[in-house]
Amino acid sequence: MSEVYDLIVIGGGPGGYEAAAFAAHSGMKTALVEKDALGGTCLNRGCIPTKTLLHSAEFYGTLAGEKTPAGVTAEGLRFDLAAMQDRKDAVVTQLREGVAATLKKAKVTVYQGTGTVLGSGLVRVQGESAEELSAKHILIATGSVPVRLPLPGAEGDAVYDSDGLLSLRKPLSSLTVIGGGVIGLEFASLYLALGAKVTVIEALDRLIANMDKELGVSIRQLLKKRGAEIITGASLQRIEDAGGLKRAVYLAGEAEQSVDAEAVLIAVGRRAYTEGLFAEGVAVQTERGRIVTDEYHRTNLDGVYAIGDVSSGIQLAHAATAAGINAVCHMLGKEPLRNESLIPSCVYTDPEIASVGMTKEEATAAGLAVVSKKYPMSANGKTVLSEGERGFIKIISEEGSGRILGAQMMCARATDMIAHLATAVNAGLTVEQMRKTVFPHPTFSEGISEALSSI
Ligand code: NAI
Repeated sequence: MSEVYDLIVIGGGPGGYEAAAFAAHSGMKTALVEKDALGGTCLNRGCIPTKTLLHSAEFYGTLAGEKTPAGVTAEGLRFDLAAMQDRKDAVVTQLREGVAATLKKAKVTVYQGTGTVLGSGLVRVQGESAEELSAKHILIATGSVPVRLPLPGAEGDAVYDSDGLLSLRKPLSSLTVIGGGVIGLEFASLYLALGAKVTVIEALDRLIANMDKELGVSIRQLLKKRGAEIITGASLQRIEDAGGLKRAVYLAGEAEQSVDAEAVLIAVGRRAYTEGLFAEGVAVQTERGRIVTDEYHRTNLDGVYAIGDVSSGIQLAHAATAAGINAVCHMLGKEPLRNESLIPSCVYTDPEIASVGMTKEEATAAGLAVVSKKYPMSANGKTVLSEGERGFIKIISEEGSGRILGAQMMCARATDMIAHLATAVNAGLTVEQMRKTVFPHPTFSEGISEALSSI
């Protein structure tokens, strides 16, 4: 007789484990099935490991930079990529143990194995042995994997996806990055800080094309200033061997051109991971590989929900977490707890990039009369004293009502500070209401207050 649950979650990433813990705390008898390590892509191969390596690289890059930082001189400065990797692994292990402890405390039963949906309410777990579990609800949170390019040479030696490059222990003297999206730019930033020659090849005419145009233009200038070569409007054709290096051949306009480097990173997006997820005959509806869901995250299969990268929507860890909580709310017959229409985006370049809500173009396209005000962080005391790069905070508000609609930032701590604006947009605050808040001095966050004062 199979074990019976209220909820079986398949996938232990930030979407799955947070939903499982929340469901268990809400009184549901909950199981979580994970075939690999708890924490999913975010903890094991994504957010946490990349930001840990970026922390080391930026530390080194600051000291090794052209200007002597803040009067500090370091002699015999060097970095040890293998040691950075060891530290990254230790951070990941510590946080993974935290996830396991959270699930244990919440009394979620964790099954180690591959979960396959046999039909509504029925899951087979194939681990060391096979067992069948049944539940009133199933939540699929199996995430995504890097997209592969079906091009000659794209699978060869020294051609990596983000998973592969994340565990490299030997430094690179040069790197070609295919894709000027979030992953491409974070790795470009990492290797630039470590002194590598970096080239970014992007098919569209700008970087981080799904964000405000000015952010893409500004980060391009900064990366170029640090020595990166940025080639836009260029599509990779093939990768060849060239005397011990990898030659990336791309099409820019009519002409084929190429760039050589020790390694190539392919970062052209991620695709939904559904391998082995559904038994034969289980007809789940998908669109371009991603599971189709409604506003409550229900799939077309009765009682089966899907959230995060495997389903439609934004591919971000915190978006998956919000969706998981809301899906569980729906199972419980409760109103959603999270506002999923407002998901902040963050890019961990140096300086950081963050955005929330509408850009000026989006607000205008929605028929709103908008005021867009930009505050240059070169006038912010904390930025000047900490030798910050050029950057800005831009706030978009509605003309007349003053309602804050969105914000875009490129500056130190942008990824932390965006939460202030997320709160403002979510609560429907106006510029005037926000201006009442006294911001501490000297801080980066004063930039928000300055931007508000300039409106
Ligand atoms: P992406 O979709 O953000 O960017 C991929 C880029 O590759 C696009 O600009 C595309 O035009 C370009 N491209 C595609 N084919 C190409 C070709 N043949 N030649 C040249 N350029 C080509 O995908 P990315 O960066 O791989 O990230 C995947 C997902 O992971 C995204 O949804 C991203 O938001 C998420 N992510 C978020 C992070 C964060 O929040 N900090 C960090 C890492 C990933």
